[in-house]
Amino acid sequence: MSTPLARRLAMDILRRTLDNNQDLQAAVDDVLTATPNGPDKGLATELAYGYLRMRGRIDFLLGQLLKNPLQTSPVLKRILGVAVYELLFLTRIPDYATLSWAVNLVRERFDPTMSRVANAVLRSLVRLGRAVYHEDYYRTKSVGHAGFLAAWYSCPQWLVQMWLDSYGKDQTQAFLQATLQAPPLGVRVNRRHVHAETLRQSLHPLSHAKLEWGFALTQWPELLPEAVAEGAATRQSLAAQKIMDAIGAEHWPSPVLDACAGRGGKTYLMSELGKEVWASDVNVFRLKQLKTEGARLGFDVPVFRTPAQGPYPLRQAPRTVFLDVPCSGLGVLSRRPDIKWKRTPADCAGLVKLQGDILRASAELLPSGGCLAYVTCTLNPEENERRIEGFVREHPKFACLRQAQSDPGDGLGEFFYGAVLRKS
Ligand SMILES: C[S@@+](CC[C@H](N)C(=O)[O-])C[C@H]1O[C@@H](n2cnc3c(N)ncnc32)[C@H](O)[C@@H]1O
Repeated sequence: MSTPLARRLAMDILRRTLDNNQDLQAAVDDVLTATPNGPDKGLATELAYGYLRMRGRIDFLLGQLLKNPLQTSPVLKRILGVAVYELLFLTRIPDYATLSWAVNLVRERFDPTMSRVANAVLRSLVRLGRAVYHEDYYRTKSVGHAGFLAAWYSCPQWLVQMWLDSYGKDQTQAFLQATLQAPPLGVRVNRRHVHAETLRQSLHPLSHAKLEWGFALTQWPELLPEAVAEGAATRQSLAAQKIMDAIGAEHWPSPVLDACAGRGGKTYLMSELGKEVWASDVNVFRLKQLKTEGARLGFDVPVFRTPAQGPYPLRQAPRTVFLDVPCSGLGVLSRRPDIKWKRTPADCAGLVKLQGDILRASAELLPSGGCLAYVTCTLNPEENERRIEGFVREHPKFACLRQAQSDPGDGLGEFFYGAVLRKS
């Protein structure tokens, strides 16, 4: 029997993202591009995202059920892992259907002996019944508090320990809890668009959290695709919009150099606020998408490709440099669960150095009275408040005017840090 389509697609997405280091959403887009909309597409996406969100808990369970978990092939563990995800979380799929495809796939990829192992492991899991849905199962079988949190909240232990040391027990638990659910959909209404006010009024009652022009929604309303197509709205997480609000983007002086502009998510947020913005990034592909976004939204922003460490090819100095820096992304694990299995402490240290170089180049670029705004989507004090403290120590002309961090109680499930500094 051949493997059902949705599982084959999910395995391909996971191979690309875990073995070839492709970004999860890019892997989903590439693999599913030729698949017609429908249940297979939906199930493949759910399996890939769900498995990656819950992989820590699933591997913990497999560690209990396999005879030699450390010697088991990663590919075998992944097939079993996706099957365990189905058994635990997709209760609409009968257990026998899951066992059938998983055991057959193991036979096809390995041999009949391994398929018997797979069958035994999955049947043992089913026999454990409801116990595996309770924290106590993991608490009694893991070593130490960090070990328990890592298993139950499905997170690498180094990261749990870093959060415990930096933020304490309660905040760590709130951050971990947030990583287990998909975040709400975020929308930003283009306040410069002719239909902005009508759209804002339609979205208002549908959203559970909002800013004046930003909304968090549990469902994508029917009217939105058209609003996006005509440039009246943009998909952007409300947490990202809130951090820009919290560090006072509205008050930054123009022109603003958006030096890590990417596809322009925040570039056009600033254009919509009425700022004159210049955009740069090292990634040409993203800059092309930024231009396309500009055409959709009705803005023509000057774009150039330059490393944010400088030197900059500018004849005039900006009055604000906005740095949405490359960071470890540990604040957006709910949206990008692959990151938790790829990131290492060494990556974080490398990023801290790059952020320092970028900050130093911006310091030179700014005139006196200029404004330096810094944002990350991570939960790592070394990249956030300590990075800014270190910068201010090295650059006494800069004073930090405001710092902000997303509130774990806001229900948005994503965490940003921001700071704004002024050069004397
Ligand atoms: C957090 S993302 C920016 C997201 C973007 N501001 C938005 O809101 O859509 C960080 C960006 O930094 C860019 N980047 C990485 N290293 C860089 C460097 N040395 N100089 C400039 N940009 C860099 C990446 O290409 C990426 O687009």
